Amino acid sequence: MTLQFPILTTPRLQLRSFKLSDAPQVADLAGDFDIARMTSNIPHPYTEEMAIQWIRGHASQAISNTAIHYAILLQESHLFIGATGLTLDVQNRSAELGYWIGKPYWNQGYATEAAQAVLTFAFTRLGLNRIEARHFTKNPASGRVMQKIGMTYEGTLRQSIYRFGCFEDAALYSILQKEFCQ
Ligand SMILES: CC(C)(COP(=O)(O)OP(=O)(O)OC[C@H]1O[C@@H](n2cnc3c(N)ncnc32)[C@H](O)[C@@H]1OP(=O)(O)O)[C@@H](O)C(=O)NCCC(=O)NCCS
Repeated sequence: MTLQFPILTTPRLQLRSFKLSDAPQVADLAGDFDIARMTSNIPHPYTEEMAIQWIRGHASQAISNTAIHYAILLQESHLFIGATGLTLDVQNRSAELGYWIGKPYWNQGYATEAAQAVLTFAFTRLGLNRIEARHFTKNPASGRVMQKIGMTYEGTLRQSIYRFGCFEDAALYSILQKEFCQ
């Protein structure tokens, strides 16, 4: 599988690879605890230097076919509003989808629009067969995004993630290439 990271466009968004110059906005938006506490891997507090290190790591992850990261920008203003990406399992032609949107931009359909673009890319350009995603059960908004992009609920992984001092239940969703309609 050859990985390419073209710019993805949707009616309202542009998805592109991260630049080091995105680091201040990444630290600012992802630094909100309401983002970190709903994810399994965003540190808190989150500094600009941590964002720089994270962005620097993207190239080696791409070369080793382990992950793809996309910055989510508003199409017209090019304002950075969040991130999405895939953690790849090349051997099984599958991946785990992740996303976050800065709090000022919630509930406007942006996560759904960005995730749909990544699914299209994964199934039509990368040739993946299965995309899965998981959300903490205390985070129903993320579950709605998974439902809206056509994923199927597979079950709940009880207390599977230890995060900020608590064991979190994680609901698992997936979609297969044969189920995907653009
Ligand atoms: C989850 C998240 C990505 C959603 O982003 P978003 O751009 O607001 O998502 P969308 O607008 O596309 O869809 C949100 C849906 O959740 C619904 N929703 C919002 N809050 C909700 C709640 N408390 N309970 C149930 N549904 C809720 C919205 O109504 C909307 O559904 P609808 O279109 O059927 O009305 C965003 O809240 C976020 O970044 N949260 C923190 C990080 C995170 O959770 N990342 C995902 C980890 S799995």
